[in-house]
Amino acid sequence: MTPANPRPLHIACIMDGNGRWARRRGLPRTDGHTAGEEALAEVVRSAAHLKNIGWLTVFGFSTENWVRPRTEVRHILSLHRKLFSRTEEMNSNNARTRWIGRPFTDKGARTPVYVQKAITKAIADTAHNTGMAVTVAFDYGSRAELIRAAQRAMKEGVVSPESIERNLYDPTLPAVDVLVRTSGETRISNFMLWQIKGCAVYFTERTWPDFNAQELNEAVAVLTHRAA
Ligand code: IPE
Ligand code: IPE
Ligand code: MG
Repeated sequence: MTPANPRPLHIACIMDGNGRWARRRGLPRTDGHTAGEEALAEVVRSAAHLKNIGWLTVFGFSTENWVRPRTEVRHILSLHRKLFSRTEEMNSNNARTRWIGRPFTDKGARTPVYVQKAITKAIADTAHNTGMAVTVAFDYGSRAELIRAAQRAMKEGVVSPESIERNLYDPTLPAVDVLVRTSGETRISNFMLWQIKGCAVYFTERTWPDFNAQELNEAVAVLTHRAA
């Protein structure tokens, strides 16, 4: 039986295939990223309307992605400033912006100051909202997150599931219910290795810029199929 007020779900998306989306249209890869950022705004709106999604976490840029061509990286960075500046939309969706990734002061962290500022401002300007939490993983890598968590747990004197969990980038993030990856790839690519422990997965051939409300519904429905 379905409970009257089911626990809000945590959906995590590896937003892949922007480059392929662009190539199929004869466009530069950067146009694919631009379209991907717009698709994300649409998915956030749809997720906020679904009401049963409490957390939406998206992989925006990985610790491994810095090796991409400089012009592409620069474009992706400016798109993050854009997405972190959608405060009005987030407020009208009653959604909070959150971020996970390498702390800006970490050795090796490369997030430019203008993106740092956009992240900090977005979090502050949406903190009062009471609905869904939208977490953007930027300069995020699960191994770096887990090494840091383990080091901090050791300083506390006990390494246990609880102490690791307490020391993740965002300890308030619950376990992932459904992991989505677009564009036909079925890799995890160093994304939330701890948090995806028992999750369901939804892989789709569709590239990220074509991901929409209907696909989001199908991803959530994976859980119902599993329960049935
Ligand atoms: C995902 O799209 C966006 C990022 C990783 C930043 P890709 O850029 O990886 O697109 P493909 O995989 O080349 O199609
Ligand atoms: C994973 O996608 C990272 C993001 C979606 C930000 P990639 O396209 O970078 O992953 P790999 O390199 O194909 O595994
Ligand atoms: Mg890719």
